[in-house]
This record gives sequence, structure tokens and C-alpha cells, in this order.
Amino acid sequence: MKRIAVLGSTGSIGTQALEVAAAHPDRFRVVALAAHHNDRLLAEQLDRFRPALAVLADGEAADRLRGHYRGPAKIMAGEEGLIAAATLAEADTVLTSLVGFAGLRPTLAAIEAGKNIALANKETLVAAGELVTAAARRRGVAILPVDSEHSAILQCLQGEGRAGVRRLILTASGGPFRERAKETLPRVTVSECLKHPNWSMGRKITVDSATLANKGLEVIEARWLFDMDYDAIDVVVHPQSIIHSMVEFVDGSVMAQLGRPDMRLPIQYAFSFPDRWPADFARLDFTALSALTFAPPDTDRFPALAMGYEAGRRGGTAPCVFNAANEAAVNAFLSGEITFTAITASVRRALDAHADVASPTLADLCAADEWARAFVARIIPELK
Ligand SMILES: NC(=O)c1ccc[n+]([C@@H]2O[C@H](COP(=O)([O-])OP(=O)(O)OC[C@H]3O[C@@H](n4cnc5c(N)ncnc54)[C@H](OP(=O)(O)O)[C@@H]3O)[C@@H](O)[C@H]2O)c1
Repeated sequence: MKRIAVLGSTGSIGTQALEVAAAHPDRFRVVALAAHHNDRLLAEQLDRFRPALAVLADGEAADRLRGHYRGPAKIMAGEEGLIAAATLAEADTVLTSLVGFAGLRPTLAAIEAGKNIALANKETLVAAGELVTAAARRRGVAILPVDSEHSAILQCLQGEGRAGVRRLILTASGGPFRERAKETLPRVTVSECLKHPNWSMGRKITVDSATLANKGLEVIEARWLFDMDYDAIDVVVHPQSIIHSMVEFVDGSVMAQLGRPDMRLPIQYAFSFPDRWPADFARLDFTALSALTFAPPDTDRFPALAMGYEAGRRGGTAPCVFNAANEAAVNAFLSGEITFTAITASVRRALDAHADVASPTLADLCAADEWARAFVARIIPELK
């Protein structure tokens, strides 16, 4: 029986994780649910899964929940509440499916409390990969990827020795603007951007997929999850999103993991690992697949991927700045303050202006995160 705490339960990953839990009532007990401000959906989830603890990071939303929720769960607010959910004695596994740097402190707290981590919140590993993986090693806890690409790699590596691995190949859909002319990209609208061709996801990751910053984040995530050099992590554009990623071995053999684009599969694998549990997800029909195609990523039109590699190779606080500047710029784009191409322009300028701190502490990372957000806020008027 897995006793899970879900941080980000009302989001795209969180709701699909709860579907997985509901499909296996004999294998899961949901002990804590946490979200940001969606008190209505959280209340429905509380009635259905009956956890001991409910958290809304937003204090006013927590007050609203107290106003209409009549069940037995204890209600908490703020980061204090998120940390309480992440460290709850009844939990053995924490699914981190909230968005952004906000996941860092709760994830570190969960690791320190000895919980295994099912990690969707890639921004945490990007910003603080060294700190988080060192803490997990010290506490002997597993960090299992929920991201479909990293789940694919984990699946391809089963039964393989580390010495046999030559490189990891992350696949990328290329996003909705894969074939757009470069000069039209500044005019891309928010609603065009939120229409991903293959996946239905939260707003932030959908924008990241369109700029390819998501793939830059995933390269850094792969470096920490699988302890690989950046030179041994490649990206290939595969618009059909059927091959979720691949591993090339030293003898030239390549293993790939295939499946329909359905996040419930990698979510379930993060919980069932190293076993597999039956599921009734729609199956891949090879006779209905017209083609599987591959192309190199276009770093001229989509420079964010190359910036991810650059930040990763610089190390120290640079990946944290890459992530924070991107988060701030994506929010500015979503609220109509800057154009689509100004997102990556902001990240470029933040990376250029930042003085890296090597081997950063948590305090250094929080300072770098704040610096990058303030930097982007300052340059927004120039980018309009
Ligand atoms: N969606 C996917 O298919 C997918 C695939 C791979 C990886 N991921 C990663 O998974 C994470 C979640 O993505 P998503 O698409 O599920 O996002 P989403 O749909 O926007 O959901 C985010 C969830 O986190 C909560 N949340 C946001 N900010 C928070 C904060 N400061 N404190 C507490 N809770 C907060 C939201 O609560 P409210 O609803 O109350 O706002 C919601 O429950 C991201 O790191 C993303 O990169 C997602």
C-alpha cells in the first residue's frame, strides 16, 4: 500500500495521479492533498479521497475552504502547510506536482523526512539539482521521474549497467510552432501558444513546450536524475510524441520506450517502480501509426534549449537563474505584458547579467531566484 501526499493535486498531473490512485484502491491511500487556490476542486477531492490533511498555499483560499468544507481533514495554509503535507508521518511517497521554484523547500523537507519522491516538479531539480540529489543520497530516498521522457529513460535503463550507456536521447514534440517562420513568432498569441498538438497540460509547461525551454529544463533534469554529462544528453524532435525517449548503449544498440501520449502511464510507473501494474489506458495501435519522424531541434528559432545546456554546463546558480527568469517571463507573457519571443530574450539577458555562485547553498539559490525574477521585472518595460 502506497501512502501518498500529492502537492499540486488540482493540476493536470495531480488530477491524473488521483485517477491512477482511484483505479487502484487496494494499492493507494491518499493521506494529504495540497494546491494553491482552487478550494472548490480541493474540497471535491477531500470528499472523495478522505486524506488527513488539506493545504492551500494561498491563505484566503484556505479560509474559503474552511468556510464550506465540512469533513474531517485538517486544513492548513502557506508554505508551512505545504511542508506539513510533504513531511506527514503517514506518507511514504510525495508526488511533487506543483509548478516552479515553489516546490523546492517542500521537496527538500520531504527528502529530509525520508519520503520517496515522485517528481513532476522539474523546476526543483533544475534550480537545485546538486542540493536535492545529495540530500536524497544522504537520506537513502528515491527520486522517481514523472516526466514522460525521464520515465522512458528509466524504463530503458532497467537491467542495464551504467558502463554500457553511451548517451540519453530526449525526444521533443517541437511544440505548436515547429513549422512557423521565425519572423512571425513575435506575434504568437497566448491562446495559440496554449494549444499543444499532443499533450493537454498546465499553462506554464505548455508555454515552455512552445519555446523549447521545457526541453532545456529536461536536459538539466536528466543530468541530475541519471548522473550523466551534458555531452551525453541529446535532444531530437519527434513530432508524434510516441517514442518518449531513448538510450543509446556503447555497442550502438538503442532502446526506446513507446506509448500513447498519456501522462497516467509515467505517473503510475513512478509509483509502481520497479514493478508494473495493470492499467486500462488506451493501447498503441501500430497499424494506425502513419509515421514516426525525427529532426534536429532548431536552436535558431528556439534558442531556449541551447540556453538550458549553457546554464547546465555553467552550473552553480546559473540553472536556477535560467529557471527563475523563465518562470517570470512566462508569467509576463501569459498576462499579456511581453511577446512570445521576449520570453527567451529575458532569459538570455538574465543569464548574461548574472554572476554565478559555485556550489550554492539553499540561501544562495533563493537569492539567485529572487534576483532573476526582479531582473526580469525590471527589463519588461524595455521588452514591450
Ligand atoms: N502536465 C503535464 O503533462 C506535465 C508533464 C510533465 C511534467 N510536468 C510538470 O509537473 C508540474 C505540474 O504541472 P501541471 O501541468 O500539472 O501544472 P498545473 O496544471 O498548472 O497544476 C499545478 C498545480 O500546482 C498547484 N500550485 C501551483 N503553484 C503552487 C504554489 N505556489 N503552491 C502550492 N501549489 C501550487 C496548483 O494549484 P491551483 O490549481 O490551486 O492553482 C495545481 O494544483 C510542473 O513542474 C510541470 O513542469 C507536467
